Parts: sequence; C-alpha cells; structure tokens
Amino acid sequence: MLAHSLLFVISFILKSSAEFYVIDDRIGLGREFDGIGGLSGGGATSRLLVNYEEPYRGQILDFLFKPSFGASLHILKVEIGGDAQTTDGTEPSHMHSEDDVNFFRGYEWWLMKEAKKRNPDIKLIGLPWAFPGWIGQGMQWPYFFPKRTAKYVVSWIIGAKQHHNLHIDYVGIWNEKSFDATYIKILRNTLDQNNLTDVGIIAADGDWNIATFMAQDPYLNDAVEVIGVHYPGTNTVKDALWTQKKLWSSEDYSTFNNEIGAGCWARILNQNYVNGRMTSTISWNLIASYYEDLSFGGDGLMTAEEPWSGHYVVDSPIWITAHTTQFAQPGWFYLQTVGNLTHGGSYVALTDLKGNLTIVIETMTHDHSECIRPPLPQFNVSAQKVTFQLKASFAHLTELQVWYSKLDFETKKDILFRKKSPIKVYDGSFTLKLDVDEVYTITSLTTGEKGFYPDPPESCSFPKNYSDDFTVENPPFSEAPYFADQTGVFEYFRNLTDTGPHAFTLRQVITERPVTWARDADQTISIIGDYSWKDLTVSCDVLIETPNTGGVFLAARIDQGGESIRKAKGVFYWLYANGTYKVSNDIGGQRVLAEGLSGTRAGVWYSLTLSVKGDFAFGELNGYPLWKYAVVLEPKKGWAALGTLSFEYAQFDNFKILADL
Ligand SMILES: *[C@@H]1O[C@H](CO)[C@@H](O)[C@H](O)[C@H]1NC(C)=O
Ligand SMILES: *[C@@H]1O[C@H](CO)[C@@H](O)[C@H](O)[C@H]1NC(C)=O
Ligand SMILES: *[C@@H]1O[C@H](CO)[C@@H](O)[C@H](O)[C@H]1NC(C)=O
Ligand SMILES: *[C@@H]1O[C@H](CO)[C@@H](O)[C@H](O)[C@H]1NC(C)=O
Ligand SMILES: *[C@@H]1O[C@H](CO)[C@@H](O)[C@H](O)[C@H]1NC(C)=O
Ligand SMILES: *[C@@H]1O[C@H](CO)[C@@H](O)[C@H](O)[C@H]1NC(C)=O
Ligand SMILES: *[C@@H]1O[C@H](CO)[C@@H](O)[C@H](O)[C@H]1NC(C)=O
Repeated sequence: MLAHSLLFVISFILKSSAEFYVIDDRIGLGREFDGIGGLSGGGATSRLLVNYEEPYRGQILDFLFKPSFGASLHILKVEIGGDAQTTDGTEPSHMHSEDDVNFFRGYEWWLMKEAKKRNPDIKLIGLPWAFPGWIGQGMQWPYFFPKRTAKYVVSWIIGAKQHHNLHIDYVGIWNEKSFDATYIKILRNTLDQNNLTDVGIIAADGDWNIATFMAQDPYLNDAVEVIGVHYPGTNTVKDALWTQKKLWSSEDYSTFNNEIGAGCWARILNQNYVNGRMTSTISWNLIASYYEDLSFGGDGLMTAEEPWSGHYVVDSPIWITAHTTQFAQPGWFYLQTVGNLTHGGSYVALTDLKGNLTIVIETMTHDHSECIRPPLPQFNVSAQKVTFQLKASFAHLTELQVWYSKLDFETKKDILFRKKSPIKVYDGSFTLKLDVDEVYTITSLTTGEKGFYPDPPESCSFPKNYSDDFTVENPPFSEAPYFADQTGVFEYFRNLTDTGPHAFTLRQVITERPVTWARDADQTISIIGDYSWKDLTVSCDVLIETPNTGGVFLAARIDQGGESIRKAKGVFYWLYANGTYKVSNDIGGQRVLAEGLSGTRAGVWYSLTLSVKGDFAFGELNGYPLWKYAVVLEPKKGWAALGTLSFEYAQFDNFKILADL
C-alpha cells in the first residue's frame, strides 16, 4: 500500500514537473538559416493562377509573398521551362530551338516579378526539369554537349536580368535525374565567365550521393555552393556534414494541403534542422493552381484552381509557414540548443545576432506515414509541460510574443496563427503547457501579422458555355487562359501576313521530342475544362501545317494527364493531312472507333465539331456530319482537349465548348 502511494506521488511529481530546455548562445551558434520557400513548376503548378482576375490574383500573391502577412516566403524556386511534361503540365522553354530565344513565355517571369514586388529580398532559384530537344540532339541526355547545356541555362539567367531585371540567386542541375560532375564544373565556369559569380549552384536536387563525389573531387566541391536534396525525411548523412556546405531540403512536403499536410509541414520545418542540419526547406509546391485531377492535385501551401470564379482557399500550411517565416529571416542563425522534446515534438531557436530570439515548437502527433514521401521519423507525442531557460544574450528578455496554432484532425476546426498574450519571463525562464498537434512561436519580435482579405467569390465549376477565338493584341501571357499543355507547347500566334479571319490563332510549336523528365506522349495535347464533363460538344477550326504526314485532333472525356498523359483515354477526333479521319478511344490512336475519308490536307482551315452524348459520339467537318454513332463505353467523363499527331506545327481557332452535365 505504502509502496503504491509512493509510486503514485513520484509519478505525479514527474508528470506535473516540467522538462527543462536551455536556450543559450554562449556555446556557439548553429548554422545560418537560409529561409523557407515554395516551388512553382515541376511542372505547370501555377498554370491557373495567372488567369485569376484582380483583386483576387493580387490577394493570393500577398498570402504567399508579402512580408508579415501570410506565408511571407523567403525563397521562390521556379522551373526553367523545358518544353516537356514535368508532373502537371508543360512549361515552355525560352529557346524552343537553337536559333530561337524569347524571354516572355510562360508565367514564371511574371511570378518572380510579383514576388520581388512584395519582397525585394526574396531569393530566386531556377532549375531545369526537362530541356528542349536541340539540347540533347536526339538523345534523352543533356550532358553530351555540356558547354551547350551550360550556355543555355546561363542564357536564362542573363535573360532574367536583361528583360525582367530579376537577379537569380541560385541555379540547379537537372531535377531528380543524374548529375554529371563535368557539367557542374562547366556550368560554374560559364557563370563566372559571364560575371555571374554571385549565382550559386545547388546540386543535385536528388539524394545525398553528390556529397560523396564532392568529398573526392575538390573542383566539384568548389563548384557547388549548396547541397540540395529532395524529401530527406529530416535526415542527412555524414558525407554531407563533412563537406561543410550548406545543406538544403530543396524540395519537400508534397502532401495534401489540409490538416495532414499542415502537420507534416510543421514537423519538416523544425526537424529538417533538428535532425538533418538543413537550413532551408522548399515546398513542392508553392500553390495548387492546376486542375485538381492532374497528378498530386491539391499539393500546395494553398489552393487557387478556379480562375473562372475567383475562388481560392488559404490553407493551413500558409499559417504553419508563417510561424517560422515571419519571425526569422535568412541571415539569422540557429542556436545549437535545438532538439526533440522529451514527450514528443521538437523545438528550434534562432537569433538575428542582435539580441532577438525566436523559438518555434511543434508537437505533431498524426501518423507520420501520411506525409507522402518519405515517412518521417515516428515517435509518440503527449501533453507536456516545458520550461525554457534563456541564457547569455537572451537572459535579459522579460517579455516574449506568442503565436499559436492547433490542428484538429477530427473537427477540422483548427486554430491557425493566433496571437496570444505575451509571456512574462521571470529570471530568464518561462513555462508552457503543450498539448498535442500544436505549433508555438515564442519571439522577441513584435512584428507578426495575420493578413486578411474578405472572402473571395464562391466556388463554381468551369463555365459550360466557353469559347476563345485567341484574338488578343499583345497578350500578357503566351498561353491562352485555362489551356493546360500536357505535351507540346500551345502559344498565341499572330500571323502578320494574314489579313483574314485566322490572323490570330493558338499554335503548337514544339517540333521535336524534348529531353523529357516524365513520359511525354508521342502526340501533343492541351486540356481544358471540367474533369466531371460527360456530354459535350466541342468545336474548333484547325490548320494542319505539315503536308502528308501531319494531323490534329479535338477530344472530349480525357481521363488523365500529367505524368500518365501517354495513357490518356477519351474520344479523339483526328483529321489527317493525307485525306483521312479517325476516331479513337486513346491518345495513341490504337483503339479505333471509326475511320474513313475526309479529303483533308495541310494548309487549309477546317472546322471540326465533336459531340459526345451518353454512349455515342458524332463528328462534323465544316458543318456537315462526317461520322456518327461511334460507340464510346469509356471513359465516362473528363476534360476537353486539342492537339497534334506528332511534334509538329498546327493551329487552332474559334474554340468552343458547350457542356451539359
Ligand atoms: C560584373 O559585375 C560587377 C558586380 O555586379 C559589376 O560591377 C561589373 O560592372 C560587371 N562587369 C561586367 C563586365 O559586366
Ligand atoms: C528526434 O526524435 C526522432 C524520433 O525518435 C529521432 O529519429 C531523431 O534522431 C531525434 N533527433 C535528435 C536530434 O535527437
Ligand atoms: C530585434 O529586432 C528589432 C527589429 O528588427 C530591432 O529593432 C531590435 O534592435 C532587435 N534587437 C532587440 C534586442 O530587440
Ligand atoms: C508509441 O506508443 C505505443 C502505445 O503506447 C507503443 O506501442 C509504441 O511502441 C510507441 N512508439 C514509439 C515509437 O515509441
Ligand atoms: C453560349 O455563349 C454564346 C456567346 O456568349 C451565346 O451566343 C450562345 O447563345 C450561348 N449558348 C447557349 C446554349 O447558351
Ligand atoms: C500566314 O498567313 C499567310 C497568308 O494567309 C499564309 O500563306 C501562311 O501560311 C500563314 N503562316 C502560317 C505559319 O500559318
Ligand atoms: C493517314 O495518316 C494516318 C496518321 O498517320 C495513318 O494512320 C493512316 O494510315 C494514313 N492513311 C492513309 C490512307 O495513308
């Protein structure tokens, strides 16, 4: 009996007594903090963002980039477009061919400028996923001609400065593919020769393997400024630590932007330093601004996938990000006193070397295996009391600001980034009661702000009656609204010698297979509309430009895109330059539903109409029925699309959709 109550008393004391954590800079500092970032690209993840109208577009950008407002990101990383499918679409290259150059394609330039407008100190990174075909000279390899590749990449950096006044701070090698030490050294030389000594190389956006090569090759080691790895699971390796280089998680997160994603992100942001000594973490992706049924739909810090309605959602990862980004800037230092909490969770502490202190604490419980890749270290978290003892430079602090979040996985009624009353510090110490699934920022800074805008418009589906004649003088973007290229690049085209009705068109401009990243289709294709569309009529004027072997299509019910675009099924209505047509159930044209003569050839505009109703499809050519009652058993729904038979020029005009759901 006595023994029992004694045990009870002891365990009571243990439970109610707080664990001690010392915050001290006398023992030296930790590594320099390099910032938290978001990744636009890899690929086409911001595609729909550009088509938002103001004021919504500007509001979204404020939530991402404006300091002391929302995510207040320190870093924007973008894809250097390579004309190929890179997860959720194609981003155009600034050089489709060796003698072509244009720094006004796509939307990454615009995005970088918008980010800089809001935060002039934001760091910019460019990284290629794919390369235009001429870089590989027919090979799926960008390193056979390393000087050419380096020149191409450096030309993007020079163009950023010349045409957009953007200074690119860092450049990468080849996303998640093999690196080549010779190429990296040549890239460094090429940068230096162009007076771009202040552009750092991040290598190699894959695993930690590069560190071993750097240890054996001093020239490679000199060329690389930052070791960037993807999805490190918060851990690093000895070889990487031994290089003394900056270690970054240059792509991480990739989880749905709900409570689960927010929980993963909170852990990653702390533990990438606690466990892995990584001083920057970059979210794939920046913003989920692509059709949700493409690969990894809804995997951003926030969601903006309805430019037609203006609706967007500021998801919880934005506020989890703010816990770190609003209270520590690149150039601050981590303290050595960081670590795990005894009853689960972790804490980091950072200082600006001027006496300011920020502590970020997270106690995330949820099943760590839900963080998409890879699972994070697993450990149990329970409610706990913690006492922080502030020493040395921080001993004098008497009051600290408190920012608080709690994720509620059951009710989904999260508390996000709420300012609480300041903590009084007595004798350099303060105690907190931590519950599970919480994030705290305890800081000497008084600058935090939870930005706010009135609710955006209600969500609504893509318009059922939609048309585009592509007639825009000086379009602000090279791509037409809502078209999401999945293989090939479709650009606004102005034919200056044409005074007729087709002077303004949409043109597919990729004429050879790029050095790909994902498996592109052998055809080109751009999708548009609503994935839930079943019955619809889509029509378009088309111009095949390649005699004899050319071809174009119009399609409905496209069931997949992104990295599986090669396997896309749907109803494809093909028109060929050899005088025939075909209706197929797949993009490869293997499963034929109908075929016959059309009398069509290159260089002549035709008007195509495809209607799908229930299990049947119908096709018209120039307003006359060409085929009817083609049986379509599957897919039951999907996007509309247009495209070409191969990598070939072709034009499209007067695109129209009428859907009935
Ligand atoms: C090289 O860069 C430095 C620093 O940005 C600048 O002062 C100098 O004029 C540049 N030189 C050339 C040749 O561009
Ligand atoms: C923190 O805890 C996790 C999970 O137990 C463990 O994997 C990691 O090594 C710990 N980190 C440190 C720095 O102790
Ligand atoms: C903390 O940061 C603020 C704002 O940057 C600065 O004014 C102040 O001097 C810093 N140091 C202390 C001890 O507050
Ligand atoms: C977490 O707690 C459960 C139940 O108490 C136990 O079975 C499990 O081994 C613990 N896991 C870790 C990583 O400590
Ligand atoms: C679709 O929109 C066009 C252009 O606004 C209009 O002329 C047409 O009548 C509409 N069609 C239907 C069926 O609503
Ligand atoms: C531009 O228009 C002219 C005149 O109609 C035509 O001959 C030419 O083929 C067109 N060029 C392209 C690329 O469509
Ligand atoms: C016409 O071209 C298509 C696409 O290349 C091909 O499948 C078909 O066999 C050709 N037909 C004739 C009659 O040459």
